[in-house]
Amino acid sequence: MSNRYAIILAAGKGTRMKSKLYKVLHQVCGKPMIRHVVDEAGRADFSKIYVIVGHGANDVKAAVGKDAECLLQKEQLGTGHAVLQAADQLADLDGTTVVLYGDTPLITHQTIEKLIHIQEEQHAAAAVLTATIEDPTGYGRVIRDASGNVAKIVEDKDANSDEKRVKEINTGIYCFNNRKLFTLLRQVTNNNAQGEYYLPDVIGLLVQGSEKVIAYETESFEETLGVNDRIQLAAAGKYMQEHINQTMMKNGVTLVDPASTYLSAECTIGNDTVIYPGTIISGQSRIGSGCTVGPHSQIKNCVIGDETQIEQSVLEDSWIGNRVQIGPFAHIRPLSKIHDQAKVGNFVEVKNTEIGERSKASHLTYLGDATLGKDVNMGCGTITVNYDGKDKFATKIGDGAFIGCNANLVAPVTIGEGAFVAAGSTITQSVNNNALAIARSRQTNKENYALKLNYRANH
Ligand code: UD1
Ligand code: CA
Repeated sequence: MSNRYAIILAAGKGTRMKSKLYKVLHQVCGKPMIRHVVDEAGRADFSKIYVIVGHGANDVKAAVGKDAECLLQKEQLGTGHAVLQAADQLADLDGTTVVLYGDTPLITHQTIEKLIHIQEEQHAAAAVLTATIEDPTGYGRVIRDASGNVAKIVEDKDANSDEKRVKEINTGIYCFNNRKLFTLLRQVTNNNAQGEYYLPDVIGLLVQGSEKVIAYETESFEETLGVNDRIQLAAAGKYMQEHINQTMMKNGVTLVDPASTYLSAECTIGNDTVIYPGTIISGQSRIGSGCTVGPHSQIKNCVIGDETQIEQSVLEDSWIGNRVQIGPFAHIRPLSKIHDQAKVGNFVEVKNTEIGERSKASHLTYLGDATLGKDVNMGCGTITVNYDGKDKFATKIGDGAFIGCNANLVAPVTIGEGAFVAAGSTITQSVNNNALAIARSRQTNKENYALKLNYRANH
């Protein structure tokens, strides 16, 4: 393991989000911003990652999980003060420390690694990632001396009019020699426009101490986009979505209209799968090859096999096999398992139900807490009556059973293999293999009934 450490600053409140949710927990492409940064840092070669938490510390900690250690910054006294919270852990170690922000979700591990490489290769005390942009308002400016070397970084609010004109900005991403960082951080004061301990002041102090500082200008400024409000949140989402969609297309997935296709950063899709417009695939979904999905479908945390067709449907937390047909207008609710070549058709709702191979529920059916064997046919309008107002009960249907239209199967109940249930039956007792169950009152036809009514005769 290398002596490389990352510190991700995530203690701020994010006032401009105007939200109950802490800023770094807002999602970009279905994943909280802080997770994007922690995951990218995880892909770079760090021996340890720290996240500085403050506002919403417990919620942020929960999102970070075991992938990094959270350190509490009780009061937010500035970015320099935030980094100092890791002093007990890092100040006495040899090595390199990279500082990242929890609200820059687009940063990639490649850029992080490049910065480390430059700092280490040139034996610099620090390397700072900079960018030259048209409108530098709000950013810290990178001030260079007459020979072009970095002299210091000046915050927008502290900059004089000459400094304000500088278009090279501090992206807020740095790589430091560890010991030098912590030694100088202790010398940073809060004597500035915002009364904060500024991390970028370390750059000026290093230069004053004749240490080597490199400003490395990034080729992709978008990666360092900071999210401070909902407009930037949408911009970050759009950028990341384009990136995800392009990767998918390069891997052989057809997106009929990439601009209206929303794929999570975590999902995988096999080649030759075609995604129609208006489709949202979120969470950890895994979709096989040769499927067609959409238009207007929502798939959340599902595993789907190959050559399956999903049309205008909603699927959550479920497992779907190969060559299954779903929709249009089906709703597959959590914990369902639908095996190969099964069919779940129009206006069918499935919940916590297993459907065997080649079984069909083609129209207007509710299947809840049920287990269907293979080659079962569920008639149109059939319902598993799984709830008595208090508890839920299971329905079991054996291989090859045929359930007629508009049957109610009152659970708990078992329908045997090859059994028939007559249309319109309300089944309250289990049915043996190969039996026929008819549970409806017999039809009686009363001849000339209408003629016997006075009412009828008078008309
Ligand atoms: C910072 C830089 C600025 C740079 C810009 C790039 C400083 C002083 N300025 O400004 O040079 O151009 O980023 O986006 O660093 N945070 C804490 N604890 C604190 C203060 C901040 O954890 O006490 C976290 C925030 O949650 C945020 C990050 O640090 O994620 C940046 O803080 P912010 O106040 O937004 O700095 P900027 O004004 O954007
Ligand atoms: Ca910021």
